[in-house]
Amino acid sequence: MCGIFGYVGEPTEVGDDVLAALRALEYRGYDSWGVAVGVNGHIGVEKQTGKIAQATVDFPTSDIGFGHTRWATHGGVTRPNAHPHLDCTGQLAVIHNGIVENFRELRDALIGRGHHFRSETDSEVIAHLLEETLAGGVPDLARATAVVFDALQGLNAVIVMDVRSRELVAAKTVSPLVAGIGSLGVAIASDALALRGHADRVVYLEDDQLVRLSKSGLTLYERKTMREIPVPLMALDVSQGDTALGAYPHFMAKEMAEQPAVLEHLARGAERPIRELAAAVRESYGTFFVGCGTASYAALTGSYLYSRIAARHVNFVVGSEFKYHEHFITPQSLVVALSQSGETVDVIEAMLAARKRGARLGAVLNVARSTLDRMVDLRVHLDAGPEQCVLSTKAYTAKVAVLLLASHALAGTYERGRDLVLSAAEGLNHMLAADWTEQVQEVARSIHQAEHLFVIGRGLAFPTALEAALKIKESSYIHAEGFAGGELKHGVIALVAPGTPCIVYAPNDETRADILSGAMELKSRGGYMIGIGPTPDPVFDVHLLTPDVADAAPLVNALPAQMLGYHAALLRGNDPDKPRNLAKSVTVK
Ligand code: F6R
Repeated sequence: MCGIFGYVGEPTEVGDDVLAALRALEYRGYDSWGVAVGVNGHIGVEKQTGKIAQATVDFPTSDIGFGHTRWATHGGVTRPNAHPHLDCTGQLAVIHNGIVENFRELRDALIGRGHHFRSETDSEVIAHLLEETLAGGVPDLARATAVVFDALQGLNAVIVMDVRSRELVAAKTVSPLVAGIGSLGVAIASDALALRGHADRVVYLEDDQLVRLSKSGLTLYERKTMREIPVPLMALDVSQGDTALGAYPHFMAKEMAEQPAVLEHLARGAERPIRELAAAVRESYGTFFVGCGTASYAALTGSYLYSRIAARHVNFVVGSEFKYHEHFITPQSLVVALSQSGETVDVIEAMLAARKRGARLGAVLNVARSTLDRMVDLRVHLDAGPEQCVLSTKAYTAKVAVLLLASHALAGTYERGRDLVLSAAEGLNHMLAADWTEQVQEVARSIHQAEHLFVIGRGLAFPTALEAALKIKESSYIHAEGFAGGELKHGVIALVAPGTPCIVYAPNDETRADILSGAMELKSRGGYMIGIGPTPDPVFDVHLLTPDVADAAPLVNALPAQMLGYHAALLRGNDPDKPRNLAKSVTVK
């Protein structure tokens, strides 16, 4: 979601630098963008709707500038609604990530006091509030920002610019911000990736802090007291792997293809943290797995794996629903978040609530030093390398692999788990070969014009069915729904018409007979049956053969749906890396 970058230092082509940094944040997902540069006594602003693509900006050399990629929440995708927003004087500018929950009352009051608004956004109130606070006698931008930030409700990250004092000030709650020092000046961004080339030492801003960026460097304050505090700098580490597309046409293709290597790496190299996670589950009195979207399906898969492999009950809760379950959390509970980015706000909020109740916090996550990484007591890093396609593929299989290994660790059969993950990796390598891919492309051709598609699975394959449906709908925009096989006759079957594509997960386990009989019911109503599993069956109109890897089946079963979604997306003219309306880092509620 919204991306933020700002710079103060030696005069440079700052407009171009900001635009380049915004390109590094594009993967987060956005619908419009804007850049502001301090030009002599005023702030120059350029904004556009749509993608940055080949866009350029035209600003003179300057010592101060910032920019923003916007994912609309309040106000349509229009040029005036893109950030930065100015105050009435044009001397102050603001960029913002989050939602100012009390913006209506603030805006009405500001309009009542004569302020002129140019956008429909919640964010613009910040610029006008700052204008009033400074005019009201608060002596400097840092103090004024602290006052304004206090008046905002919600989870927000804010950076303000004052062209007179030529400084930027930033504060945040939950939404990430990282500031850094480089050879030419200081910079700040919502993601360390954007600081590459601008900083070599960085500090991750905490919720109770405020940071000032000026020619004299970074100044850090405790926000409530405005007491200056030391800046705990650390080396910038964005060397988490290869961010180049290489020979692949899309990041989605690249990241699907990386899955065998990611699984192998985890199976061979992550034993210690995985055993620690297993031990924490053993010691807890009640474990909760929490995640959103694809990560929630990995979490649900985990609850099945713990049950069948380690005979241990693990609760599963979607991040945004956690607050309705948190009454069960005690200091004996373990709450484990699953997250690729480590920044999903619904997950972070759940973890904050769990911490308030004294629970032990764990995480299975990909992005090191993310908010989640910094807040938990124990962690397993997926080490899957950057996932740049908005859709999650390799991080999903990596999370499931960790949970499979951790449930085997709990059961005292770690080596069996490792063998299964390695067999799944080998199986995926075969599935990524040309002949298997061509078969999926053929199936994609036959279904890409469908309006609806259904996916069924039972037991361990039920969460896989949910994930498969999500992957197909967000890449191809075909309406796809996943169901527990046994639920069909309770309603869903009403939607099946002649020719409706239905994907059936039929592993060689105890669910096979029942799922095939469900498949027969769909076929009897004209469903076009796409079977996924290690053994053919006459009910399948087409069969995508997968290796038999027992309880590691979720690791090989994700790929067919990922590939179907990818190829259907291409056939429908969609960009699988940047689906409409979706964001990679979901940092607003
Ligand atoms: C789907 C997808 C999303 C994410 C979800 C959680 O392909 O990518 O559903 O899985 O937004 O994101 P993380 O894992 O970063 O917490």
